[in-house]
Amino acid sequence: MIHLKNAQTIDGNVIDLSIQSSDDITIKADGLTILPGLIDPHVHFRTPGLEHKEDWRTAAKAAIAGGYTTVFDMPNTLPPTITESRLKDKHAIINAQLKEIGIPLRYQLFFGADKQHFNQIPLVAKDVIGIKVFMGCSTGDLVIDDDESLHAVFEIAAKNNLIVAVHAEDEHLLQESKANYKGPMTYAAHSVIRNIEVARTAVEKAISLTRKYGTRLYILHVSSKPELALIKSAKQEGLPVFAETTPHHLFLDESNYETLKGRAVVNPPLRLSEHHIELFNAIHEGIIDTIGSDHAPHTLHEKEKPYGQCPSGMPGIETTLPLLLNAYHQNLLLLQEIISLTSERARKIFHLAENDDMVLVDLNKIKKVDESKLKTKCGWSPFAGHELKGWPVYTILEGRCYTID
Ligand code: DOR
Ligand code: ZN
Repeated sequence: MIHLKNAQTIDGNVIDLSIQSSDDITIKADGLTILPGLIDPHVHFRTPGLEHKEDWRTAAKAAIAGGYTTVFDMPNTLPPTITESRLKDKHAIINAQLKEIGIPLRYQLFFGADKQHFNQIPLVAKDVIGIKVFMGCSTGDLVIDDDESLHAVFEIAAKNNLIVAVHAEDEHLLQESKANYKGPMTYAAHSVIRNIEVARTAVEKAISLTRKYGTRLYILHVSSKPELALIKSAKQEGLPVFAETTPHHLFLDESNYETLKGRAVVNPPLRLSEHHIELFNAIHEGIIDTIGSDHAPHTLHEKEKPYGQCPSGMPGIETTLPLLLNAYHQNLLLLQEIISLTSERARKIFHLAENDDMVLVDLNKIKKVDESKLKTKCGWSPFAGHELKGWPVYTILEGRCYTID
């Protein structure tokens, strides 16, 4: 058993607690607050094929350091996860890597929708957490950019009782916007080219497909007010629509191109800071359900390439919880909202079984994000140097306690 002594609940009650474990340890948890182990519904851990950016040995350590005990991994690997046999191979590689480091991280895999492989979806329906649809091109070459295929995916997913997770950026508008763009090719051009209308149009289309087929829809990385308005009315209509936002869309904005340069390039792009308040309000109203870190590591060498060659994406799994706890201190979020965003809602939406996983956080610990301490293979963070208040101290996964330094 793991015995926690004098731990605090989010209401401030001091309690003792025992958790099933083959170890017998006692943790003096004075001053530490208990949260459920975090669930990250959106990570890119890069296995197979992109292991120079990340693998599950480094990523699992990063997850634990961030207070996460469950992750859902995306299919845009090399090769992408679009067939039953690739899904099996991916599981085998991940399991071997996790075994090597002795961290039984809980994980689920998204299956990639690919026009040539729709016949594979029923074969994997019981083994995947959902179907990922890239409505616009992002990292990798997965994309569903024609209406006929989009209709087909939503219909097949509904028939197989699978949720569809959409990367909602409209490929046609995106190409048009790229062709019409005449400004300088700086990193900041990214937010102009992949503008809000590109995202809004795709969200609108995805919701209309859910209306038609009854498909459960999970909208990834919502970044702007116009998307929120559509999601709000879809929910009011009673459609099975759920929404995620990310730490970078909550805490970074277009002004960050100046300092972060290529490291600020992400899909969908950073927006103006006026969207932050809209996202926080949407959290309070229950329009946003979850936070996904969208942990998408690339090497610094890759991110230093000029705009056009610099890949989109940034790491996030180690900094998401401290950023949210810091936002609690700024009266932007309640602790209950943080629990709801980082575990409760995801557990309900994706029908996950309950477990005893926990993270013990020191709400008063103040620390700067230190790139030299990060576990992610890419070794950098867009939040480097940010002083944050509220950090995880212990992560308890499947009855094992990991101390976070
Ligand atoms: O910025 C992004 N990076 N957006 C995506 O959709 C994919 C991700 C990645 O895999 O690098
Ligand atoms: Zn992503």
